[in-house]
Amino acid sequence: MDEVEQIKQKLNIVDVIQEYLPLKKSGVNFKANCPFHQETSPSFMVSPERGIWHCFGCSVGGDIFKFIMDKEGIEFKDALEILAKKAGITLKTSSKKDRDGTERLFEVNQKAQQFFHYILTEHTLGKPALNYLKKRGLTDESIKEFGIGYAPMSWDSLTNFLKKRGFTVGEMIASSLCVPSKRGCYDRFRGRIVFPLMDVRGRILGFSGRILLKGEPKYTNTSQTAIFDKSKFLFGIHLAKGAIKEKSEAILVEGEMDMIMSFQSGIKNIVASKGTALTESQIELLKRYTDTLDLCFDTDLAGDAASRRGIEIADKAGMNLKVVKLSGAKDPAEVCLKDPKEWEDAVAQSIPIYDYYLGSVSHRFDPKSAVGKKQIYAEVLPIWKKISDLVVQDHYVQKLAALLQVKDDLIRKDLKTISTLPSQALVPAKDDRVNPDLIGVKVSDRKKLLEEYLLSLLLHLPDDITYVPNFPETLFNEESLRQIYVLLVLYLDSIAFKGKSFRITEFIATLPKELTEIVDKFYLLEIDEKLEESVLWQKEVGNVITEMKRILIKSSLEILSLQIKSAQEFERPETLEVLNRKFRDLSLKLKNLS
Ligand code: GTP
Ligand code: MN
Repeated sequence: MDEVEQIKQKLNIVDVIQEYLPLKKSGVNFKANCPFHQETSPSFMVSPERGIWHCFGCSVGGDIFKFIMDKEGIEFKDALEILAKKAGITLKTSSKKDRDGTERLFEVNQKAQQFFHYILTEHTLGKPALNYLKKRGLTDESIKEFGIGYAPMSWDSLTNFLKKRGFTVGEMIASSLCVPSKRGCYDRFRGRIVFPLMDVRGRILGFSGRILLKGEPKYTNTSQTAIFDKSKFLFGIHLAKGAIKEKSEAILVEGEMDMIMSFQSGIKNIVASKGTALTESQIELLKRYTDTLDLCFDTDLAGDAASRRGIEIADKAGMNLKVVKLSGAKDPAEVCLKDPKEWEDAVAQSIPIYDYYLGSVSHRFDPKSAVGKKQIYAEVLPIWKKISDLVVQDHYVQKLAALLQVKDDLIRKDLKTISTLPSQALVPAKDDRVNPDLIGVKVSDRKKLLEEYLLSLLLHLPDDITYVPNFPETLFNEESLRQIYVLLVLYLDSIAFKGKSFRITEFIATLPKELTEIVDKFYLLEIDEKLEESVLWQKEVGNVITEMKRILIKSSLEILSLQIKSAQEFERPETLEVLNRKFRDLSLKLKNLS
């Protein structure tokens, strides 16, 4: 019998569920009001005989493992651990060794948290920090609930404390609490207010430290460790998950302070992303509790590429996205301090994300003028293209048409034909000062011109040579150009085989209708007369391709250097190494091009 079966046999499902909610006997089964949705008459049923539960109101159900996973918002292996303990069964999991390693990391974090919390709340060294937090509006209760602490301005106070309690230098470094040095290690967090970063079960994965006085960086985080991964983390989830489920809505803010202040003022269905754009893992985590997300960010969600990508991911995952708008340049923490009611109202008045986009563009551009319409159209169309639900998409097509006063059919037609730009591989952090999107625009302008030029060159193939281009079609970003190029290669290949020369009308005759107009246009582009000479023509084609490759590599390098900068700033040595290697490889490629 495997461990799962053993546990099921040992534990009575009624006892396990009773710990969370009262069950009433009903024939051979038990019933209760469902803990997973709001109801007034019970449709949540439990069968002790079959060891299963099911809610007829919200159609969820399963065994004890499923119940613990859903109720605690945890993964199977964690549920297994909890229930094994209850059943008094020792797990002989193969990852035992690994577990012990990470267990020590949880322990050292726990000890460090006690130390920091003690300094903040009891020690004179913590007084200024405590005063500061009080000034920001935090209550003693919140400080305790969130386990907030203060790391004194010292290189070795935590290190010495942990040493005395039996932790090794290796463990201190592995937990990222300390930074390796020649003589061992020193404290990472110095002169900072520290917030424990906890997982859904409330275990401490790491810390973030806010500078108390002025200084850079404003926040320092635990770097990636065996138990902490920033991209999978949401601050406050262990305290907020219940309220998120209950309200079936989650508010997402940027900062720790925003989350805590909101929670303290009674709006508890809230988590913080800690200043990064949403990732797939974070969405996955949230989806366990809700599929409605209210975003409240300082950044302009419409203007920021990283935010847009996060939103795209959430949309794809089927999330309903809304935006909470704050008047003035305040963040949620400030609003809560001034007037919690104002925050409550702002949340209640959140608007759907796509309406927010429309509002944002009509503020930034003039929807009445032709130029403004063009700008709005160019910005919004690619976003609309990515709306995954077609009903929702059509709803916003109509709204956009109304805003611009154009026919919605025009928009529908364009939606079909525009290509989606490849999204960036890695989302740069918010603090990067250069907006990669801007580089993207400049690059793509020039690149687009070259693409068009290259195509018209190819359409002007001198008739005294046989030539079949062999560069990859991915060199063309624009979908229609790419299609034309592929068809052109096929055509050139066939005439080369037959020993015929290139005839534009013959080629156009092979094309589908929607492409002929475009080809005609490119054929009409002016080409230098000199290029009728086949040697010069071939040279020119070679030059253009090299130039296009150079642009692609350069823009990758620019994005990489932003990522490197952010990896340095956010202290991610592993990522840094990979990025540096990529950077060197690409630089070499660039050099070899010329
Ligand atoms: P307060 O000034 O204390 O209210 O913080 P804040 O939350 O308003 O800070 P801000 O809006 O500048 O940043 C939002 C979040 O981004 C912070 O809570 C941090 O989690 C994160 N963040 C801000 N600055 C840095 C930084 O320099 N490094 C890192 N790693 N994260 C930062
Ligand atoms: Mn703030």
